[in-house]
Amino acid sequence: MVTEISTSDAQRKMLADAGYAEPAINYYIEQKYMGHLEDADQVSHKVGSCGDTMKIYIKLDDDKRIEDIRYEITGCAGAISAAMAAVELAKGKTLEEALALNDGDVFKALENIPEKKHHCIQLAVKTMHQGIEEYKAANAT
Ligand code: FES
Repeated sequence: MVTEISTSDAQRKMLADAGYAEPAINYYIEQKYMGHLEDADQVSHKVGSCGDTMKIYIKLDDDKRIEDIRYEITGCAGAISAAMAAVELAKGKTLEEALALNDGDVFKALENIPEKKHHCIQLAVKTMHQGIEEYKAANAT
């Protein structure tokens, strides 16, 4: 008898074998914040040292706190899981608080990803910081 393994079970196993912890795998599989926001206040784009790219859409609320973020990503599983974790950490924060988030905060939220993927966390965080800085520069009074 053949037991069917779903795509996500197979993906989970592959990622776990590669060194991704459970929270990182969930962020990657769910991809809750992938895509774009029609009414974003800021759209920014960054190319990582590996050549992969991220585009970020940031939406602020009336108090200038981060209401929502979406990422469009051409990159690896590490990049996707890191970006999804970064959104969860940044939501509800002021721009300054979100600028204070760093790679270590995202790594903690992921629990673990392979060491050779740590630069992908950097790309997710740098893209968010760049988006915030570009928003601030364009809206400085
Ligand atoms: Fe390029 Fe992960 S983002 S290898």
